[in-house]
Amino acid sequence: MSKEKSPNLEKIHVFGIAAISQDGFIGQDKVHVSTKWTSQADKDWFWDRTKQAGAVVMGSTTFFATRKPGWPLPERMNFVLTRDPKTVWQRYDSDEERTAVKQKTNLVYLNASPRELIERAITDQFTELAVCGGTSIYTDFLPFMQTFYLTREPVELKQGLPLIKNTNLLALEKLLNSEFELVEEIKLNNQGTFRQTWQRKD
Ligand SMILES: NC(=O)c1ccc[n+]([C@@H]2O[C@H](COP(=O)([O-])OP(=O)(O)OC[C@H]3O[C@@H](n4cnc5c(N)ncnc54)[C@H](OP(=O)(O)O)[C@@H]3O)[C@@H](O)[C@H]2O)c1
Repeated sequence: MSKEKSPNLEKIHVFGIAAISQDGFIGQDKVHVSTKWTSQADKDWFWDRTKQAGAVVMGSTTFFATRKPGWPLPERMNFVLTRDPKTVWQRYDSDEERTAVKQKTNLVYLNASPRELIERAITDQFTELAVCGGTSIYTDFLPFMQTFYLTREPVELKQGLPLIKNTNLLALEKLLNSEFELVEEIKLNNQGTFRQTWQRKD
């Protein structure tokens, strides 16, 4: 995969941001809430960096696998991808919750390709877009990412979802090293959590 060229895409910094276990998973299953196994340092980093970006994109599965399922992260635009932006509202538990979430101006459900979503973010004047998962979204947006922030957590999940579809840990390391360059590795705590910054080579 190579970065797709488009004059408009040069107007925005698209980056991935993810936490990965030492055995190469981003969650044990589709409903596994990431914040249950990631470090406080990673949660703080994710919160601050996505807020700084101003706009995030995630899949509907991830959006409903959070501590507050179906609610947008505050103080940033939440683009949530779903193939059915109408029926997605049925996933809320009550009419009260649906009504409350519909009033949020920082949430948009969209059925869009990565390119269309990025163009939408540019049109909305965002200069950064944080790609926040899960597996299907990281995979589909990978060709557009200039940077990938990966937090390596010293945790074994033993089974689960890979960062990129059909890619085990060995294949992931190969993929990262072929398309990206490791430009920074920072120790986040004394428990063995590291954050890596991978920059696209070209
Ligand atoms: N460790 C981490 O950093 C991290 C970060 C994020 C997520 N996760 C984990 O990842 C898991 C979820 O990953 P996942 O791959 O199963 O799901 P996902 O990528 O979060 O969402 C998949 C859903 O997104 C929608 N979608 C995907 N591509 C689309 C497109 N081009 N257009 C329109 N809609 C599109 C579809 O929604 P509909 O079904 O509504 O049509 C699809 O079912 C969870 O366990 C979560 O905790 C981990």
